Amino acid sequence: MKDVCLIGSTGSIGLQTLRVLRNYNKYCVKALACGYNVNLLRKQIKHYKPEYAAALKKDPSLINDFPKVNFFFGETGIEKMVEACGADIVVNAASGSPGLKYSVRALGNAKRLCLANKETIVCGGELFKCYLKKHNTELIPVDSEHSALFQMLEGDVPPEKIIITASGGSLRDYPLNKMEKVTLSEVLKHPTWNMGKRITIDSATMVNKGLELIEAHYLFGYKEENILTYINRSSLVHAGVIYTDGVMKLHVGENDMKIPIGYSLSYPEREKHRFKNFLVDADLKLEEIDYRRYPSLRLARDILGESVKQIVFNASDEVAVKAFEEKEINFGDIFRVISNTIDIVDAGKPENFEDIMEIDKVARIKANEEVKKLK
Ligand SMILES: NC(=O)c1ccc[n+]([C@@H]2O[C@H](COP(=O)([O-])OP(=O)(O)OC[C@H]3O[C@@H](n4cnc5c(N)ncnc54)[C@H](OP(=O)(O)O)[C@@H]3O)[C@@H](O)[C@H]2O)c1
Repeated sequence: MKDVCLIGSTGSIGLQTLRVLRNYNKYCVKALACGYNVNLLRKQIKHYKPEYAAALKKDPSLINDFPKVNFFFGETGIEKMVEACGADIVVNAASGSPGLKYSVRALGNAKRLCLANKETIVCGGELFKCYLKKHNTELIPVDSEHSALFQMLEGDVPPEKIIITASGGSLRDYPLNKMEKVTLSEVLKHPTWNMGKRITIDSATMVNKGLELIEAHYLFGYKEENILTYINRSSLVHAGVIYTDGVMKLHVGENDMKIPIGYSLSYPEREKHRFKNFLVDADLKLEEIDYRRYPSLRLARDILGESVKQIVFNASDEVAVKAFEEKEINFGDIFRVISNTIDIVDAGKPENFEDIMEIDKVARIKANEEVKKLK
């Protein structure tokens, strides 16, 4: 039996992780943490009976209702819970840059970190990579593209290039000249995946692919020019590798996040999952990406490796996406907020994780100022 600490249990990845965990009788849910959805956390505590639980805001009724559970509150509280619970596996399915702090805590405290929170890598960059090397915790990526690459990079010589794919998001066929003012409900109609709001909007702008490009660079050590990005409309091709002799391997599988989540938990074993043979009619075609439609991916390529700009890229996107959701800015403004904020934030290279969180904070202030200018 392996003890699991799940952060972000009330979100899209968190809920799917719980479904995976309850399908197999080899995991014990030892700790659960959410953001603000305490009502759902309450139901999860009743069902999974964890020894530890945490939420961002203190809720005394939780302590009254579940006297046997050890509660922690606030981001610092969640960090402490990761350490105190002593779980074998930490699944970091929190959204946003605070996820970096939880991942840092997992290193050295858990045997394995199953990482969905891509902000950990995008913001943590080289610092996180060095910290990871110093600790005896293995990192298994959860993101479908990175899980696919992780699987393909085992047991062969290193490929020359790697490929990550994108669905193209909800606006992949939308007339280019009408993209500026597309509505939120149109943006949220993702063609292939059912995900949280931010990542769905980030798929339409391809900020998400930009974050994944950066993630792939740090996780697998490839330069920007050797990480190719293509659209695969069916999302059945998750990633690929290209060897020096021209041979290519593509990783094909159902677009169901429970598969990479299950793999991250069970690696090096594989779980049993119903086999659906979709290959006969599958659309495995890879299409070139038009950067006029997705300028944020071009921008991510340009800033890759520049730690400050990567942190600002992520933080300003979070601010811009929220402003778009709240109808304060147009869809087209998301890119403007990101690129303007990157131009104005002037900070020295971060020396530690506190510096990273400080740059993240400054970037959010500046991005909010950019939003105000566009309102
Ligand atoms: N969804 C996908 O298919 C998918 C695929 C690959 C990678 N990812 C990555 O996985 C992460 C989570 O994505 P998601 O789609 O599951 O997001 P989501 O549905 O928005 O869920 C986010 C979760 O994180 C919690 N949370 C938010 N801020 C937090 C904080 N400061 N501290 C602790 N918990 C916090 C939320 O709690 P409350 O809801 O209680 O406030 C919720 O449980 C992101 O980094 C995303 O890029 C997602």
